[in-house]
Amino acid sequence: MNPSTRIMKVSDSPSEDPALAEAARLLRDGELVAFPTETVYGLGGDAGRLDVIEKIFAAKNRPSDNPLIIHLDHWERVSTYASHTPELLPILSRAFWPGPLTVVVEAKPEIRNTVGRGLNTVAVRVPNHPIARELIRLAGMGLAAPSANISGRPSPTTAQHVFQDMNGRIPLILDGGPCQVGIESTVLDLTEQQPIILRPGMITGSDIEAVLGAPVTRARKSEALRRSPGTRYRHYSPNAPVYVIGPEISMALFKKLVQRLAMDGEVGYLGSRPPGACTHLHAASYQLANRLYAGLRELDERQPCGIVVDGLREEEAGLSVMDRLKKAATHYFISDADMDAFLSQ
Ligand code: TXA
Ligand code: MG
Repeated sequence: MNPSTRIMKVSDSPSEDPALAEAARLLRDGELVAFPTETVYGLGGDAGRLDVIEKIFAAKNRPSDNPLIIHLDHWERVSTYASHTPELLPILSRAFWPGPLTVVVEAKPEIRNTVGRGLNTVAVRVPNHPIARELIRLAGMGLAAPSANISGRPSPTTAQHVFQDMNGRIPLILDGGPCQVGIESTVLDLTEQQPIILRPGMITGSDIEAVLGAPVTRARKSEALRRSPGTRYRHYSPNAPVYVIGPEISMALFKKLVQRLAMDGEVGYLGSRPPGACTHLHAASYQLANRLYAGLRELDERQPCGIVVDGLREEEAGLSVMDRLKKAATHYFISDADMDAFLSQ
């Protein structure tokens, strides 16, 4: 147990920061350290040690079959973990790394039962964050790092979010301020003929197709479930029930829903309707991905009886936001008819 978790701020020139030296020392001792990436905060540990991997699963209450991403400081390090390097990797890494793209490649046998949880593939990425990269370099190891939340909760995009979930479970959180992207990396499977997107993210299918000059498959739900265990679980959820409403829902029905929920207490709202669109609301705004999790956590702290969230059109970046929102939702309304049926229950 770690009775108290320290938060250490890291400056803009991380290479000289004593907090990073301390973090690297802890990692070499087999401890866990939470650190910022450009997407969300990660909960890092030595990717080469099974005892450390098990600690990560315990700290998060993570289902034991859900494999981890290894974070590297340079694309050439992929060969430490991959049994061979796919042809497309140099092209993709030149275009998108460091950045919010994770690739799934064939794994060396020795890591299949550690980070891979029995799969014969491994997920790797080079994060685009000076603290993350300097930490990996100083520690001298690949970092296995899932998002630094308790499983099922929204991913953390500030050090304070990590503290809410991980206090007492890990010794150290590096504070690098809020994450820029705000949702997790795109996961791209490179082990088949055609690349397959297993988890959508800020780097979209069209972005990848433009670089490859070849088509990319968006995994159908059943396929994503089979290939990527993480897509199987309820996710990203605050404590309050979440009501996601599609972009086609009218203002009248939006107001009706809020009024109904407000009979039981305060209602949280995450969206872009004008302030005063409705009374009873405590509102937080978000623009696409980057305030999504922070907004959900902020609203949830007030212990509302429900959180209403404006859904986005399921195209390009909106697709990755909706992928998360549908998993967080207790109710998802696509049309007025849908909502009418719910309200007349
Ligand atoms: O942006 C991100 O990717 C963040 C930051 C910290 O880097 N990390 C993150 O990790 O979101 P996590 O563990 O929360 O999500 C990893 C996802 C899960 O859906 C998992 O199932 C999938 O990647 N995954 C990992 N290894 C895989 C593999 N070998 N094959 C298929 N999916 C894999
Ligand atoms: Mg996660």
